[in-house]
Amino acid sequence: MRLAGKSALITGAARGIGLAFAKAFVAEGAQVAIADIDLDRAQTAAADIGPGVVAIQMDVTNQVSIDAGVAATVTAFGQIDILINNAALFTAAPIDEITREDYARVFDVNVSGVLFTLQAVSRHMIERGIKGRIINMASQAGRRGESLVAVYCASKAAVISLTQSAGLNLIQHGINVNAIAPGVVDGEHWDGVDALFAKYEGKIPGQKKKEAGEAVPYGRMGRAEDLTGMAVFLASNDASYVVAQTYNVDGGNWMS
Ligand SMILES: NC(=O)c1ccc[n+]([C@@H]2O[C@H](COP(=O)([O-])OP(=O)(O)OC[C@H]3O[C@@H](n4cnc5c(N)ncnc54)[C@H](O)[C@@H]3O)[C@@H](O)[C@H]2O)c1
Repeated sequence: MRLAGKSALITGAARGIGLAFAKAFVAEGAQVAIADIDLDRAQTAAADIGPGVVAIQMDVTNQVSIDAGVAATVTAFGQIDILINNAALFTAAPIDEITREDYARVFDVNVSGVLFTLQAVSRHMIERGIKGRIINMASQAGRRGESLVAVYCASKAAVISLTQSAGLNLIQHGINVNAIAPGVVDGEHWDGVDALFAKYEGKIPGQKKKEAGEAVPYGRMGRAEDLTGMAVFLASNDASYVVAQTYNVDGGNWMS
């Protein structure tokens, strides 16, 4: 019960890694707002987990929606102690096929969404004197470029950079900002990744996923549950002295 009495807002938590975080946080005693653009799925997820969880519709590209989601979480739980900026989109294309529309769509969620949700929640924390925790979801893709993944890689590099700047700025208020960089994590997200590589590299469906899993030093793809220990740690009192860091949790894919 390392998070007993805490309340958390997790964006993009209707499925995948965010949903695993919601379950793990509830198991550690927290109350959780599952905030997702897909309200139906957020509601199903919240009902499955049970008491202590609310579903909130939030589009992290829309300031009115962010502010309403933050207000709804405060109404439900009294305050927000923990934010996980988890919502994101993946995209892939060779450089000569990247469009401004796709770039804007991905940066709007992955970068602006992270910054302005972090801003809204940290304002609430500062106003109430809450020594809060903010965890941003980066990626191994933010550590280096990839031939077909320029836009997503750049967006995740921006998340690592924002984590550093926000971490340095907000620690004066007792708010710790850190990030997690997963490697390859099985789930619906990676089904989309696999389909894009099938298109651009002429691979058969499932081939890229298999290759990605085999290339992990640990010996398999990650599972959403592999990330929960780090998230609980960063949200807990044990991480008070951890500031502006990005932790690789990727089975050994990347060292930095
Ligand atoms: N799965 C991986 O291999 C992997 C690897 C590295 C990093 N990550 C990162 O981890 C995080 C979670 O990944 P995942 O695999 O669970 O992703 P996912 O695609 O399964 O889930 C993303 C969730 O975000 C929601 N969402 C999308 N746009 C939104 C918006 N505008 N506002 C609110 N919610 C929105 C979706 O509805 C979905 O529920 C992401 O930040 C992702 O980039 C994932």
